[in-house]
Amino acid sequence: MTITFIGHGYVGLVTATVFAELGNTVYVIGHTPEKIENLKKGILPIYEPGLEELVKRNVKAGRLLFTLDYKPAVPESEVVFIAVGTPPKPTGEADLSVVYAVAEEVGKHLDGYTVLITKSTVPVGTSEKVREIIASVKPEKAEFDYASVPEFLREGQAIGDTQHPDRIVIGTDSKKAEDTLVKLHEPIVMDGTTKVNVVLTNIPTAEMIKYASNAFLATKISFANAIAQLSESVGANGPDVLEAIGLDKRIGRFFLNAGAGYGGSCFPKDVKALIAIADQHKYDFKLLKEVEAINKEAIMGIVKKTKHVLHNDLSGKTVGLLGLSFKPDTDDMRDAPAIIIARELLKAGATIKTYDPIAMENAKRIFAKDEGIHFVDDAYAAALDADVLVVVTEWNEFRQLNLSKVKQHMKEPNLIDGRNIYEPETVKQLGFTYFGVGR
Ligand SMILES: NC(=O)c1ccc[n+]([C@@H]2O[C@H](COP(=O)([O-])OP(=O)(O)OC[C@H]3O[C@@H](n4cnc5c(N)ncnc54)[C@H](O)[C@@H]3O)[C@@H](O)[C@H]2O)c1
Repeated sequence: MTITFIGHGYVGLVTATVFAELGNTVYVIGHTPEKIENLKKGILPIYEPGLEELVKRNVKAGRLLFTLDYKPAVPESEVVFIAVGTPPKPTGEADLSVVYAVAEEVGKHLDGYTVLITKSTVPVGTSEKVREIIASVKPEKAEFDYASVPEFLREGQAIGDTQHPDRIVIGTDSKKAEDTLVKLHEPIVMDGTTKVNVVLTNIPTAEMIKYASNAFLATKISFANAIAQLSESVGANGPDVLEAIGLDKRIGRFFLNAGAGYGGSCFPKDVKALIAIADQHKYDFKLLKEVEAINKEAIMGIVKKTKHVLHNDLSGKTVGLLGLSFKPDTDDMRDAPAIIIARELLKAGATIKTYDPIAMENAKRIFAKDEGIHFVDDAYAAALDADVLVVVTEWNEFRQLNLSKVKQHMKEPNLIDGRNIYEPETVKQLGFTYFGVGR
């Protein structure tokens, strides 16, 4: 099949490349000449493990084509995916301006029959507006159907998630579009010996499934953080409680870790967007408002512990901050808890030395105007002369640090383990003052 993706971010680039790898001809349309030229050479605008090699292979094979132009990509394509960003507006609603702008461009270039899909996370009702836009600009003879195929990939594991998803959701009111999309996804559905579940449904249901999934996962994380906080007060071991409840199949172990809160490009914005959708429909989604509040507390909990260990006097103190991206194996800094934590500590008078294996360049842009934050070359350099070391992102390379060496580097051996990656007893035996989350 010939298909087009608009957008080459974490979703667009990964999904497009996986479809190219399956033998399709895939155009990827961007809007920044420099990024498109780089992509042609295999230089990617994002970091995702394994992606560079896959992109290069498919570019070389002539199946993955990067372009700024809608022609000939859209007229040649049977299927067009919109995979652009839908960031939050100040009100919490999803900003759909880019979705609408690219839909108009797609509409103008339609030729023959095309299935148009939003892969971007969009609120229920977006389909109507997109269809209206396209109908108003498309050439008279061009025909199209609309579908919602939401994306569930996790950054850091995006290729595996796209090749072996838990389920594929296809929402459309057209049998022809459904058949086309089932055929396109066939090689993914027949995943070796297992068959991936395909949920065939209508458009509003597909759109709602995406928000409900992310809101539920965020709820699980906030539940874990609430249990952790309470465990600290009652003398229970929070991580053990969560481990044990997660063994119940009805609950499940995933996303039940206490820590420095959730962040990233999806959970914060999708929770906000679902609250806004609910408000518009006169439903007060109190549960999700509380999920947000608990998440803020979890992030601020790390700040509080850091201040506590420094006796609430941070002036002249140095904090070593390990990890900046919102989670390991990505360079994505959007809504990363590290941003709030670092700024709160800077505001209180601390100097920060920080290291992240991949997200430093993106972080430098975010902290460009902040004074007192220094980017260093490795975890030991972050620990050098520090009064406290704070782990914010659980990158694997932090798990096996030589903690004796870390201690020797530090001015004071204080360790705030914001992701519970160290064994408290081991760390205490080395002479650290240790605080985890819920422990
Ligand atoms: N990142 C994730 O883990 C994830 C997972 C599932 C769903 N989603 C959803 O998928 C959508 C995309 O997310 P993302 O993380 O890939 O975003 P992103 O910011 O990484 O990528 C957005 C892409 O859109 C492109 N773009 C912006 N304006 C454009 C224009 N006028 N013409 C062409 N391209 C344009 C950008 O250049 C960029 O390549 C969002 O709605 C998001 O909520 C994201």
